[in-house]
Amino acid sequence: MIQIAVMGYGTVGSGVVEVIEKNKEEINKKSGEAINIKYILDLRDFPGDPYADKVVHDVEQILNDPEVKIICETMGGLKPAYDFTKRALLLGKSVCTSNKELVAVHGPELIQIAHENKCNYLFEASVGGGIPIIRPLNYSLTAEKIDAITGILNGTTNYILSKMEKEGADFDDVLKEAQEKGYAEKNPEADVEGYDACRKIAILSSLMCGKNVKYQDIYTEGITQITAVDFIYAKAMGKTIKLLAQSKEEEGAFFAMVAPFMIGREHPLSMVNDVFNAVCVHGNMLGESMYYGRGAGKLPTASAVVSDVVDCARHIGKVIMCFWDQGDVTLTGIEQASRRFFVRVAGENERKAMETFQSIHVVEADVPGEFAFVTELMTEKEFNEKAEKTGIISRIRIE
Ligand code: HSE
Repeated sequence: MIQIAVMGYGTVGSGVVEVIEKNKEEINKKSGEAINIKYILDLRDFPGDPYADKVVHDVEQILNDPEVKIICETMGGLKPAYDFTKRALLLGKSVCTSNKELVAVHGPELIQIAHENKCNYLFEASVGGGIPIIRPLNYSLTAEKIDAITGILNGTTNYILSKMEKEGADFDDVLKEAQEKGYAEKNPEADVEGYDACRKIAILSSLMCGKNVKYQDIYTEGITQITAVDFIYAKAMGKTIKLLAQSKEEEGAFFAMVAPFMIGREHPLSMVNDVFNAVCVHGNMLGESMYYGRGAGKLPTASAVVSDVVDCARHIGKVIMCFWDQGDVTLTGIEQASRRFFVRVAGENERKAMETFQSIHVVEADVPGEFAFVTELMTEKEFNEKAEKTGIISRIRIE
């Protein structure tokens, strides 16, 4: 029997307990040994909970118990999760986490400590919730040179954008409704400003490069400036608007960014709606592959944590390879990236826009008082210079 502990009995932690209980037979069979939850760490008590007798308040009880071989860290945040995780790994206890913040900030260090202590730090649930994406990158696509990852990595913003498109509604109204229904956090900043997607693409980019991509270096734009009018234009162009998190390697240079993009109906990510997430991975032999599913939620996320527990159970005393070194990657600034841009200007600026941008494709959408167009391919730097000269209402990048 393998003894495990769950640190943090909130949404994901209680989901982990539920998954292990409900799928006991499957999980034990696949682990090769029975998995038993010996402790649940939380500050609170849970009277009446079927697992109340397993709840402990002192982490030392878990760390000092040599029987505990695997820990699920479902606390979230950096403190005290970082300290608890590091200490557990130094004691040779594997840690499985859903904590994207901790993985994005301390991932390579914790992986190295794990490996030095013949245990593992696994984080399938940190990106894309229940979607298997970390394991495919680490295990399944090992014959590939991965040169691009593009994903919809945040369920809240995808829900908001899908609803804006469907209902012709504005951002603020949809956000308010999403908050009332509990789909969006009371403080939605991390989601709507793209910070959550930024941490997730930092993790995926690091696995793509094999070195550390710092989330602070990733250019990040959220969806707060997207309006109902943008969707009128998108529809007229046969496109939709999605918050994409991207990472690309071109001739040894690495780019990463998070921003809203207009994408065509033929793009596989255009079909990903509501709270769903998806990740497209491009490999030099395989070409495009796509991973789709529920990117958040108690049971999908818990299922990913438990899949890591099974992996750790199968590899007690052995290291599961993960190529994410501590050296930082220098990202190439997005100013050099070339793309087309969808641009809106006030009607009276039409001539100026035509003179400045020269070769453009006009977008007809019957929006009074405005002139809208798509530029030729140009770098972000060129675009910014021309946009400043013209004076624009807004722009959305085109994928
Ligand atoms: N707030 C995140 C989302 C939850 O909306 O996708 C999963 O990390």
